[in-house]
Amino acid sequence: MSRATAVAHPNIALIKYWGKRNLALNLPAVSSLSMTLAPWRTRTTVEWGAEHDSLLLNGDAVHGPKAQRVWSFLDRIDPHRPAVRVESDNDFPTGAGLASSASGFAALTLAATRAAGKELNLKELSALARQGSGSASRSLWGGFVHWSRGLLEDGSDSHGAPIPGVERLDPVMIVAVVDEGPKDVGSTAGMQRSAQNSPLYQAFIDDSEACIRVARSAIERADLPALGEVMERSTFAMHGVMHASTPPLIYWKPATVAAIHTVFELRKQGIGAWVTMDAGPQVKVLCARPDADRVESALSTVVPRTMRLQPGGPASVEP
Ligand code: PMV
Repeated sequence: MSRATAVAHPNIALIKYWGKRNLALNLPAVSSLSMTLAPWRTRTTVEWGAEHDSLLLNGDAVHGPKAQRVWSFLDRIDPHRPAVRVESDNDFPTGAGLASSASGFAALTLAATRAAGKELNLKELSALARQGSGSASRSLWGGFVHWSRGLLEDGSDSHGAPIPGVERLDPVMIVAVVDEGPKDVGSTAGMQRSAQNSPLYQAFIDDSEACIRVARSAIERADLPALGEVMERSTFAMHGVMHASTPPLIYWKPATVAAIHTVFELRKQGIGAWVTMDAGPQVKVLCARPDADRVESALSTVVPRTMRLQPGGPASVEP
């Protein structure tokens, strides 16, 4: 038996991934760009060589499809693997559109490959993490990360890569927690539905590379308003795709809309703050550090809980 422990932070996409070009290899239809966030983290320990496969998530034994997703992922690392014991915990809400699958599969990838004695470089680790959960491919690095759609059929060129510049921008991400319950429709099922029948899907795909270019240039110039604006463009395009799917995918709750309007109101008052939402009701607000108190107190009038996150570092194996 050999054992390893790894830690990874979640990430939030500023330029969104929604749709797959290959389901089996989990290849995205678009490139995306994210920010890794601290202090939230997943910590995962893998014992490679146990009596039977077992998964403990936040102290509870997990069975069924959720566990099966982990076993199938470990089969990709070694199809002839021994039984494995996985113990993972998150210090933030799991499965509620707060990117727990990103940090979860990034930490699992690092811990499991290390425990299995495999030496992979960061790009290989990212391409592997992608097959567990797409957004996990971005959680290997800290700061801003670009996950390329890639062109190759085997997906080996679809992995993350870091983008320098987070220190100069010094952004903060405030999470307005609307509802911590699990989401109704998971991201894979939601993406399939949108690709099959949303009349806006192709328009979202067609605009995504332009969004990435605008975001990269904003990061290079340390221009937070430009980055915030293009983040909203990508966010509302993705939610437009979701809303126009049949049946509609509406992850928002009334307080989601209230939080969006709160941020728009702050902007009218001259505060630089911009919203993003994923496959869940939470609103994440990007702003400059000096404005964070003002943004957080405005949001706390419309949602039960707010949390302040800052750029996080790379995933790592514990010594
Ligand atoms: O990689 P998944 O299955 O967690 O899907 C992520 C989808 C979004 O969070 C909505 C967008 C993104 O790019 O993270």
